[in-house]
Amino acid sequence: MVAVSSNQKLMVDAILIKKELSSVDRSFAISEFKAFLMRDSIAKKYLNSKKINPRSKEFKRIVSAVRSKLRRAHSMFGVGNRSLDYLRFADELSELASLTHLKNVSKKILIAHASSSERVEDYQVFYKWIISKIPKLQTVLDLGAGLHPFSLVYLTKSKLQGMSYTAVDINNSEKELLELLFSKLALFYDGFEGNSKILNLTNSKDIKLLGSLKSVDLALMLKLTDHLDRGNGHKQTEKVLNAVAASFVLISFPTVTRSGKPMRYPQRKWVELLCKRLEYTVEKFETSNELFYLVQK
Ligand SMILES: C[S@@+](CC[C@H](N)C(=O)[O-])C[C@H]1O[C@@H](n2cnc3c(N)ncnc32)[C@H](O)[C@@H]1O
Repeated sequence: MVAVSSNQKLMVDAILIKKELSSVDRSFAISEFKAFLMRDSIAKKYLNSKKINPRSKEFKRIVSAVRSKLRRAHSMFGVGNRSLDYLRFADELSELASLTHLKNVSKKILIAHASSSERVEDYQVFYKWIISKIPKLQTVLDLGAGLHPFSLVYLTKSKLQGMSYTAVDINNSEKELLELLFSKLALFYDGFEGNSKILNLTNSKDIKLLGSLKSVDLALMLKLTDHLDRGNGHKQTEKVLNAVAASFVLISFPTVTRSGKPMRYPQRKWVELLCKRLEYTVEKFETSNELFYLVQK
C-alpha cells in the first residue's frame, strides 16, 4: 500500500465515501489523488497545512476534482442509474436459458456502458476486420476491458468454440457481470473459457504479473492508453505494450468527444512513432467514431 499522511487519508476516505466509487481500488484512488496534487499546487499547499476541514471550500473542491478523475478512469455504466442497471442485468443474466436471450441482454449491457455504447453500431465491422487480420483468433487478453467482453456475442460459433478470453481491469465492480457472461458462453459454446483479473496497469508489480501471463493471439487496449498515460507522455503505455505477451495488440482511441463532436486532433501519430522505435509493425483502421492501431509484435 502507498504511504499516506493522516491528512491525505482523511481526504481519500472522503473521496471514496460515495457509493458509486466504493469498488474503486484504494491504491488506485491514492495514486490518482497524488497525481492531482502534483498538478495542483494550491491543493498541495492546502494538504500540507495543518488546517484541513472537510467543510471548507478547498477540501470540497479537491474531493470533487479527484472523484471526477476516478469516475472518468473507471467509466462505469455511464448511462442511467448504475446500481439499478447492474442488479437488473445480473438477474437477467443468471436466469437466462437461451442463446438468443444472452445476445439480447449482452447488447443492452453494451449500450449501458459509455465506451461500448459508442461502438455498438460498429461491432460487426470491428470483428470482421479483426478476423481478416487474425484468422486463427483463439486467445484474447482484454486490458482495461470494462464491459467490452459482452461484444463476444457478435462472434460466430466457430470462433467462440474453444476460445480463451481473459478480461483485466482495475475495477472489480464489473467482475460479477463478466463472470456471469463467461459462464453462459461456456454453456453455449464448447470449450469456451473466460476469466477476469484485477490488475492496475500503472503499477509496476502488476505489469510484471501481466508479463508472466501466457502468450495470446490478441491483446486489446481499447480506449485505455489515455487512462494509463494521464497526459504524462506515453511511458506507461510503452511499458504495458512491451510487457504483454501477444502476437498482436489492438490500441484504440475515440475520434469524437463525449458530446459527439469530432475531435480536433483525432490521429495519434505517437503510436506510429512508438511502434517504429520498438520495431513493431502497425496498421490503422477507423470506424465512425474510433481509431484503431493494430500492432504486430
Ligand atoms: C474508457 S474505459 C474502456 C473500456 C473498454 N476497453 C472499451 O473500450 O469498451 C477504460 C477502462 O480502463 C480501465 N482502467 C483505467 N485505468 C486502469 C488501470 N490503471 N489499470 C487497469 N484498467 C484501468 C477502467 O476501469 C475502464 O474499464
